[in-house]
Amino acid sequence: MKDKLDLLRDMRSEAFAGGGEKRIDKQHEKGKLTARERIHFLLDEGSFEEIGMFVIHRTTDFGMDRQKIYGDGVITGFGSIDGRLVYVFAQDFTVFGGSLSETHAEKICKIMDMAVKTGAPLIGLNDSGGARIQEGVSSLGGYADIFYRNVRASGVIPQISAIMGPCAGGAVYSPAMTDFILMVEDTSYMFVTGPNVVKTVTNEEVTSEALGGAMAHASKSGVTHLTAPNDIECLAAIRRLLSFMPQNCEEKPASLPYSVGEELRPHLTDLIPENPNQPYDMREVIHGIMDDQTFMEIHPYYADNIVVGFARLGGKSLGIVANQPMSLAGVLDVNSSKKAARFVRFCDSFNIPLLVLVDVPGFLPGTDQEWNAIITNGAKLLYAFSEATVPRITLITRKAYGGAYDVMNSKHIGADLNYAWPSAEIAVMGAKGAIEIIFKKEIDEADNREAKLKEKEAEYNQTFANPYKAANRGFIDEVIDPKDTRRKLIKGFQILEHKVDTLPQKKHGNIPL
Ligand code: HXC
Repeated sequence: MKDKLDLLRDMRSEAFAGGGEKRIDKQHEKGKLTARERIHFLLDEGSFEEIGMFVIHRTTDFGMDRQKIYGDGVITGFGSIDGRLVYVFAQDFTVFGGSLSETHAEKICKIMDMAVKTGAPLIGLNDSGGARIQEGVSSLGGYADIFYRNVRASGVIPQISAIMGPCAGGAVYSPAMTDFILMVEDTSYMFVTGPNVVKTVTNEEVTSEALGGAMAHASKSGVTHLTAPNDIECLAAIRRLLSFMPQNCEEKPASLPYSVGEELRPHLTDLIPENPNQPYDMREVIHGIMDDQTFMEIHPYYADNIVVGFARLGGKSLGIVANQPMSLAGVLDVNSSKKAARFVRFCDSFNIPLLVLVDVPGFLPGTDQEWNAIITNGAKLLYAFSEATVPRITLITRKAYGGAYDVMNSKHIGADLNYAWPSAEIAVMGAKGAIEIIFKKEIDEADNREAKLKEKEAEYNQTFANPYKAANRGFIDEVIDPKDTRRKLIKGFQILEHKVDTLPQKKHGNIPL
């Protein structure tokens, strides 16, 4: 037995050596951790159990039969984060550049299947040169096996992808189908075709970083949800992100112990400026309502006219969608609608209640918006809210105009509780636009046009620039004092905790993609 144990120990240390010291040093020189180090920092200390350590590839072409390395470029297994089971794969760039062979793909598929069967999140740490060139179509098939599983697992278990090195070509489509993507600044990139092909086809000169680096995808394409300055912070962000989620679609997110007293937040009363056209930071409203230091913003650099993220209220996990008056006056446009719709669908898939904070002057006008399908994209958000069955509460802090009033989780599309602050203005449109239409003749015929405009504007504002018409109709359940907001919302979500709502029997809906 001793000999056999010695052999096992030797094989293990060979596997631990990965692609060897030189390649590990090179990885460190780039500011990157190795796959094993990443798993160490991601999971609870000592919790990792590896699966498939001795897997080797089956290729013989191009002398590959003489190059076999245990693990075949990906480390797979399970462990825990904050004591909860997770599955993880980490591509090992020191072994064939982390490139994906048939066996490498099989290892990933194995843990994906286990994650679904046991109902636990899947985390992928991507760092790979793409398809293992020596394997040809076997590698492409391996990718497709993973894509297929990503889709089957979607909405069943949370799937999180970190991009911690190259991720190019078709390889990008596995992360793209997971729920959240995080990218490490300066050391990672994602693109379907790299700078050389871009130069050949379009004659554009662009670096990898500018084309597909972390900030490009965080701010321009919106492909990535979060960025981190280094590997360690990226892994910490994954741990934090998971803390808001349940293990799977059958469970509710974990609550943290929290004793709720009479918690007034008086400073909320002073947040809305006297001048309705003056911006304010909706993040201050969020921080003012939520448990201290619990807000985790998602997609902060993309479509910042809407804020989305997770936080805790009375210890319970919530998804927040909020118009941001600081950017484009909080208007809804193509990108903000897409961003919010995807977030709402994630929360609904995983039983995370939604809080919606509204200050929206309407949809952004213009040819750019119309030709980029604000109709279809705005409909995504409308659809996502309308089909969501999780507890949903809306608070209108200021403006709620036009179609955007309907879209932003109004009572009419299934919100459970709708609150407004006394500063709310709920109408078809703002005073200026409205009076020029409904009082056109009167204004045109007036001796003093300016005085007439002022008079009519005041009349319109008196009638509509408040929440009471909506409250008269029951579209707003209660107009609340801002300082009471936190208490009201805690109670609201408490009574909705056991809400039961189901969609009509169907195969699946047809969201306007
Ligand atoms: C096999 C690969 C590889 C690959 C890298 N390596 N990519 N081996 N298949 N795809 C190996 C290298 O031979 C080298 O081995 C080691 O990994 C490190 O690579 P380097 O080039 O030395 O590293 P670096 O300078 O950091 O450059 C990294 C890189 C580059 C930018 C990723 O390696 C590269 O351009 N690789 C090819 C990328 C690519 O075209 N992949 C196919 C994309 S198409 P040694 O032994 O020297 O350490 C695709 C389709 C997917 O992926 C389709 C899915 C549907």
